[in-house]
Amino acid sequence: MGPANRQIARGAVFSPVSTPASSIATLAWFILAVSAAIFLVVFVLLIYSVVRFRARDTDEPREPAQLYGSNQIEFAWTAIPVLIVFVLVLTTIRTIYDVQAAREPPDAIHVRVIGHQWWWEFRYPDLGIVTANELHVPLSDPAHPMPTWLQLESADVAHSFWVPRLAGKTDLIPNRINTMWIDPHQIGIYLGQCAEFCGTEHAMMLIRVVVEPRPVFNQWVAAQRLPAATPSTQAHGRQVFESNACVSCHSVSGNRAHGTYGPDLTHLMSRQTIGSGVALNTREHLKIWVGDPGRMKPGVLMPAMNLSENDLDDLVAWMVTLK
Ligand code: CUA
Repeated sequence: MGPANRQIARGAVFSPVSTPASSIATLAWFILAVSAAIFLVVFVLLIYSVVRFRARDTDEPREPAQLYGSNQIEFAWTAIPVLIVFVLVLTTIRTIYDVQAAREPPDAIHVRVIGHQWWWEFRYPDLGIVTANELHVPLSDPAHPMPTWLQLESADVAHSFWVPRLAGKTDLIPNRINTMWIDPHQIGIYLGQCAEFCGTEHAMMLIRVVVEPRPVFNQWVAAQRLPAATPSTQAHGRQVFESNACVSCHSVSGNRAHGTYGPDLTHLMSRQTIGSGVALNTREHLKIWVGDPGRMKPGVLMPAMNLSENDLDDLVAWMVTLK
């Protein structure tokens, strides 16, 4: 089962849609151009030497005269590379500074990003929202910037948050807080990936960033703040959830589930994917996932609960009401 991918804005590091990513892309093009120029000069000189000084039939059959040491040449091939490296170092430092020294505007959106083996927890402390794996942020119109400030933490091992079109990589390190920011100026869904090896399912620790216009973002916020739906028809499924170990790892607001080891499920169905992007969030996939998570994501830390077919069906029927 491949990672779910619909309505996704394609592109990579060279098509940035956020200021930090643009700065990095500009730097990358500059370094590429300098490297290409060096390559061209070396290659042309090499070809010239090979052709111009190749062995000819008229050559005398002995070694050519050997010359040792030329201060000018040695000085040139030391000084020029040093100068080039110096320019590259300065432009790199400047780019890092531009990205890191950016002032946080007072109305920025704040998100705590907590890396777990192998999923992402997103908490919006000012908005009272907890969600997982799919980060929603408002569009940042350059005329009215609305950046999102991310505070990166880890619940276990080192991870790295990387959404190439939005910003560079930043590590999530245990017992340390890193920060980064994005100001996406194009609507879309941007894919990212944990970029630091963090165990078996590192490759399936995917990120989705949903960039939406402010009014749509506000609607999403309002919906996320609501308590979980409590349909009277799915009481048995809910009871299966509450009477199993699910509650020690997952939270559902207004329920006795207060676990924080796994993703908050209060608005599970508002997410497009499950298992940190391992599959689309459909009823069929949920049933496979809950029945035996290791079938979709070998090594996943969520155990199979060995539910009866009937309990599993009722549980999933209740889960799909968590809109
Ligand atoms: Cu988390 Cu790799």
